[in-house]
Formats: sequence, structure tokens, C-alpha cells
Amino acid sequence: MKFRPRRLRTTAAMRGLVAETRVHPHQLMYPVFVREGITEPTEISAMPGQYQHTLDSIRNVATHLVEAGVGGMDLFGVPLDEQKDKQGSIAWDPNGILNRAITAVREEVGDALVVCADTCLDEFTSHGHCGVLTPSGYVDNDATLELYARMALSQAHAGAHMVSPSGMMDGQVAYIRKALDNEGFTETAIMAYSAKYASAFFGPFREAVGSTLHGDRKSYQQDPANRKEGLREALLDIAEGADIVMVKPASHYLDVVGDVAASVDVPVAAYQVSGEYAMLEAAAQNGWIDRERAIDESLVSISRAGADVILTYWALEYAQRSQKN
Ligand code: PBG
Repeated sequence: MKFRPRRLRTTAAMRGLVAETRVHPHQLMYPVFVREGITEPTEISAMPGQYQHTLDSIRNVATHLVEAGVGGMDLFGVPLDEQKDKQGSIAWDPNGILNRAITAVREEVGDALVVCADTCLDEFTSHGHCGVLTPSGYVDNDATLELYARMALSQAHAGAHMVSPSGMMDGQVAYIRKALDNEGFTETAIMAYSAKYASAFFGPFREAVGSTLHGDRKSYQQDPANRKEGLREALLDIAEGADIVMVKPASHYLDVVGDVAASVDVPVAAYQVSGEYAMLEAAAQNGWIDRERAIDESLVSISRAGADVILTYWALEYAQRSQKN
């Protein structure tokens, strides 16, 4: 027989030689949570193996990430409940937990890791929405932009290499870019959460950040039914000056990852979210799935779809395991 595709599958070495996709630790980013007012890292029950960190323990994590060759980290802050207000003003306070964490991590690792911060208000507002509310309770797009600019600037001042607006307000990338440039932060990169869907798979994250949200985010995050709109959002963000565009969640949106990757000339990121992590960990705990194989397959699938950068809660573990293999 002339054509036998199986010839290239005969040995591990042969398969390794012709593998089309490899996931390298350098392309991974580790999302991490830093919580105000705790003295010990606290495990997140819906995300076994993931923790809310203290300002000390986050430094250790950062060091481990560098040692393992992980590309970057994405920092999320969890303030005290009494620090939350309608605007989320602790988000741009230099003494807020997220800004202090950025500075601590930069002190620890310098430029050895890309230090990125989440630029969104939902962890800091009393109502848990990603922006400020009109009197009728609608999330006010244009009034929120100014607050995002303050937050991004405070993060750049704290030492962030990259900010990542995730609130899905229209025009947020252009507004933040202008604010950063005006203050001289021309080298601070923007990773835009471009195609972010109103997803049930964010569920465990709400526990991780102590979210106060009632209701949903459907008036600003995208409808899971919409594929073309994902590409449109990414193209708009690039036109506004995004350096990296992101699709989120990852695994259930690989069509959108593929569309964006085929159409843009900036790096494409995909965020494997808390629910994707929790489902696989739960199945593995029950002995229903081979944990490591499933993790590896999930990551290679996201890469195969076209993601250049992958945000994953398995970043550190995967990188450490890659060093041993
Ligand atoms: C909002 C934000 C969310 C996530 C990242 N940034 C939650 C949301 O939009 O409701 C979810 C991440 C995850 O589920 O792992 N700042």
C-alpha cells in the first residue's frame, strides 16, 4: 500500500518527530489570586490545588514560575469586603492588594517573568459588576472607561509589564492605551480580553475572588451562540491598539480561537478558565479520567486551534513536569 499514515505513528520517537504542535512553558501564563488580610495561603475549594495567596506566598510562586520556565503570570486581587465600594476605588489605590502584589512580584523576579495584572473592577465593586452602574442598575460603559484608565495607570506605576482589560466595555483598549501613553507608559503592553463570553465556566472563579455578584454579565460579555462576533471583537481591539488578543473560555470556544488566529497578525491568547480546570480535576479525583493525559490533551488542543499564549491554572505544574520529561 502506497499511503500508510500509520508509518509515522510507529514509535514514540517517530511521533515526537512529526508532532505538529508542542506546548512550551514559555507560552504559558499562570493566573493567581492574592488576598488582603490573610496570613496563610487558602485553598479554593472549587479549584483544588489553587490558592488565594498572601503577599509573601505570591513571591514564592513567582520564583517557582521562573525556575520552571513559565512565561508569565496574571495577577488578580481579592480585597477585604469593607474595602469594596460602588466604583471599586481600591482597584487604583496604590495600597490596594493588587497593586502591592504587582510590586512584590516585580521585586522578586524583575523581568524574568511577564508580570500582568487583570484590569477589571468586579473584584473591587460592592455590587460585583465589572463597571459602574446607572441609577437603573445598567452597567455604564462610558463612565467605566475612566475608572479602567485609573486602574491601568496604577498597575503600570506598580510595575506591571502588561495590563489586561477584561471587563468587555466598548472602547476600553483605546482609552487605556491613550492614558498609558499620556503618562509615558508607552512600553506597557495591553493583552485584551477581546472575545469574552458570558460563561457558566467562570463559576469556580467567583469563589476564588469572593465575588459579590448577583445576576449575570450578559449585557456586556458575549452570547455563547456568537462566533463571528468573537472575531469582530478581536479586530476592534487590534484597531484600538491591543498587543495581544484573547479568547475566553478556551476549550468550548476553539472555533473562535481558530477564526481569530487565522485573521490577525498579533499573538492570540486563550484562557482555560476555572470551570475547565474544576471539571477535569473533579473527574480525576473520582478516578474517571487520566489526569495528566487529560491536562496535556486539553492544552495541546488549545494550541492546535491557534493559541500562541495559554492562560492556565496548570501552568506551573505543566512546566515542572516538562522539565522532568
Ligand atoms: C473578570 C474575570 C472573570 C474571569 C477572569 N476575569 C470572571 C467573570 O468575568 O465573571 C474568569 C476566570 C476564570 O473563570 O478562571 N474580571
